[in-house]
Amino acid sequence: MLGSSFAVLASLALSVLASTTVQVRSANKSLSLADLALQKVLDDASPIFGYYVQNKTSTSTWMKSYPDSTKIVHMNLPGVHDVQTWNYSLATQEALDHVTNLDGVTVYPPEIYRCQEQPIISMLNAGIRVFDLRVAFDPTNSTLVFWHSQALQSETATMGDVLFGFYKWLDDHPSEALLLSFNYEGSTTAYAQDDAAVQLAIYNTLTTPVAKKYFLQAQNVFGTLGEARGKITLLRRFDLSALPSSYSDSIQGIYFSADQWIDNDPDITLIYNAAQNLTAYIEDFYEPGQPYGQGAAYNIERKYNATTTHIIKATTQYPDSLFWTFASSENDSDNPIETPEIMALGNGTDTPLGGVNQRLIPFFKEQEGKRVGIVMFDFFDQPGDLVQSFLDI
Ligand SMILES: *[C@@H]1O[C@H](CO)[C@@H](O)[C@H](O)[C@H]1NC(C)=O
Ligand SMILES: *[C@@H]1O[C@H](CO)[C@@H](O)[C@H](O)[C@H]1NC(C)=O
Ligand SMILES: *[C@@H]1O[C@H](CO)[C@@H](O)[C@H](O)[C@H]1NC(C)=O
Ligand SMILES: *[C@@H]1O[C@H](CO)[C@@H](O)[C@H](O)[C@H]1NC(C)=O
Ligand SMILES: *[C@@H]1O[C@H](CO)[C@@H](O)[C@H](O)[C@H]1NC(C)=O
Ligand SMILES: *[C@@H]1O[C@H](CO)[C@@H](O)[C@H](O)[C@H]1NC(C)=O
Ligand SMILES: *[C@@H]1O[C@H](CO)[C@@H](O)[C@H](O)[C@H]1NC(C)=O
Ligand SMILES: *[C@@H]1O[C@H](CO)[C@@H](O)[C@H](O)[C@H]1NC(C)=O
Repeated sequence: MLGSSFAVLASLALSVLASTTVQVRSANKSLSLADLALQKVLDDASPIFGYYVQNKTSTSTWMKSYPDSTKIVHMNLPGVHDVQTWNYSLATQEALDHVTNLDGVTVYPPEIYRCQEQPIISMLNAGIRVFDLRVAFDPTNSTLVFWHSQALQSETATMGDVLFGFYKWLDDHPSEALLLSFNYEGSTTAYAQDDAAVQLAIYNTLTTPVAKKYFLQAQNVFGTLGEARGKITLLRRFDLSALPSSYSDSIQGIYFSADQWIDNDPDITLIYNAAQNLTAYIEDFYEPGQPYGQGAAYNIERKYNATTTHIIKATTQYPDSLFWTFASSENDSDNPIETPEIMALGNGTDTPLGGVNQRLIPFFKEQEGKRVGIVMFDFFDQPGDLVQSFLDI
């Protein structure tokens, strides 16, 4: 009796084991070629996008609580500047030396270029909805890859690969709307040119069948959240001027002309739709270093002042226009130089009030209930409550 029930139990256990193995096998076999192809593309994208992970947090679907009728220009949207630099450590720079050694230019230490430290997937899950991305040809002029000036960020992750990360994330978070700003990045190699070949490559990447499915097709207008959910709104900061005008006429997105985008300016007025008189107000004072020699605390304060002055303008003027404020910086030529990290987070005891990020948190608390528009951060994840303090406005 006893013996036979042991035998039954043993054979049950064996069959459970066997069926578990079969299930795991068949589960893997049941992955479609489309699933496996997406996995491959996401792997290819990972040096820029990060490793795709599901992470349901309160911030990953914060747009759910806003009605469809909300106008995009009325929303407060946290953004990130020079996203592609998040993994640009010395190890990454050195791993790419064999490529960049061919470029005919000097590549400076990584902290000159680095503006983030968390992957794009973490930015998305943390609530970031606006992304500043810079592309140009790789050193062989074959593929569109990500750069920050001379600093190549990956030789393998292409613009097209990285877009699949955003597409997949939108499928998983259909309540959310993303705004992707693309620039053609200059000063990459000694010979790179913003010519017809690179402009065509960018145009083609943004007009593939999959891009047409995920990018809002509207041109030079911001609509409602309802229209933008599950989609990408292109903020087009690159030119198609080397191509026939039919290319500019047919590409989606809002065009921010470089002619109107005054360099390093704290108070830009840019008309993106002359027929309808639609205007964007932009603060892009990225290099507050001059006059040189003032030091980190002074330059952080100049940047903080430019940022908060523009945000106050957003809370008090032109309620139906787009406001786009960069709280981020570039390295400057101060001696010693301020890196983007020093500007965002301060430099220890040299800067008792912290960097721009620390100083913005109490400022955001004072803006409660107001429209501040888009604000772009460097090192968005520090301090840990920065994005939440923005979303709480
Ligand atoms: C099934 O796929 C997962 C994830 O890719 C992998 O970790 C696991 O080893 C696979 N199992 C088998 C039995 O191939
Ligand atoms: C980040 O950089 C390190 C060092 O270069 C590298 O080992 C790692 O794979 C990179 N991360 C991703 C997601 O590519
Ligand atoms: C998920 O999000 C939480 C909160 O932002 C974070 O602490 C955690 O590291 C994330 N986990 C993964 C796997 O990304
Ligand atoms: C890349 O294109 C530029 C601009 O057209 C050209 O000057 C350069 O020689 C090309 N480089 C390579 C490696 O093809
Ligand atoms: C265009 O809009 C701006 C406000 O954004 C306003 O100041 C200006 O008067 C308008 N111009 C015309 C021609 O309507
Ligand atoms: C920043 O603005 C404050 C208040 O207007 C002013 O007192 C201060 O001098 C400004 N700082 C710099 C560095 O411009
Ligand atoms: C920092 O930026 C300035 C202007 O953008 C540039 O002229 C300078 O060479 C940079 N410093 C370094 C060390 O790269
Ligand atoms: C930042 O702090 C370090 C260490 O005290 C110092 O060497 C460096 O000059 C400082 N940089 C700036 C821009 O103040």
